[in-house]
Amino acid sequence: MTTSSIDLKQYIRGIPDFPKPGILFYDISTLMRNADAWQIAMGRLTAAVAPWSVDMLAAIESRGFLTAAPLASRLGCGLVMLRKPGKLPGQTISYDYDLEYGTDSLHIQADAIVPGQRVVVMDDLLATGGTLAASIALLRKVGAEVVGAATLIELRSLGGRDRLDVPVKTLVAYDD
Ligand code: PRP
Ligand code: MG
Repeated sequence: MTTSSIDLKQYIRGIPDFPKPGILFYDISTLMRNADAWQIAMGRLTAAVAPWSVDMLAAIESRGFLTAAPLASRLGCGLVMLRKPGKLPGQTISYDYDLEYGTDSLHIQADAIVPGQRVVVMDDLLATGGTLAASIALLRKVGAEVVGAATLIELRSLGGRDRLDVPVKTLVAYDD
C-alpha cells in the first residue's frame, strides 16, 4: 500500500463510554504511537494548511498542541498557545464561552499576535465547534486575521463546521 492511500482511521481507536456514558471517544494516542502513520497524518495536514500562507498557528490546549507544534515546524511559521486559565505568564486576553454545563475560558498572551497576521487555529478534533469558535473569537480580539481552522478528526453529525465562519480542513470524518 502506498502512503497516499493509507486510511488513517485504522490507527484511531474509538473508546465507548469515555469520558462519560454514551460518548464514543476518538483516541489519537494509537495514531501518534505509530511513527509512520503520525508522519503521514502530519504530512497531509501540512499539505491542507500550506495554501493558506500562514504567519502563525494557534494551538488550542491541550490536544491541539500535538497537531500544531509539528505543523508549525513543517510550515516554517510561528506558534502561539491558546490556554486554559492561569497557565500563561504576563498580560493575557481571555474569551469566555458556554459549554453544555457551565462556562469555560481560553487565554492568549496579549502581545502574541501582530495585528493583521494570518493565523490558522489548530486542534485535534472538531465536535460541536464551540472550542474552535471561541478560539477564533479570541484571536480576532487580539487583531489576528483568522484564515482557517484545521483538525485531524471531524465528528460530522455534530455540525461544528457550520458554526465556524472560516474555511475548515479536516483529515478524517466520522458520521456516527
Ligand atoms: C476536546 C477536543 C477539542 C474539543 C472539541 O478537548 O480536543 O479541543 O474537545 O469539542 P467541541 O468541538 O465540541 O468544542 P477537551 O475539552 O476534551 O480537552 P483536551 O484537549 O485538553 O483533552
Ligand atoms: Mg481539546
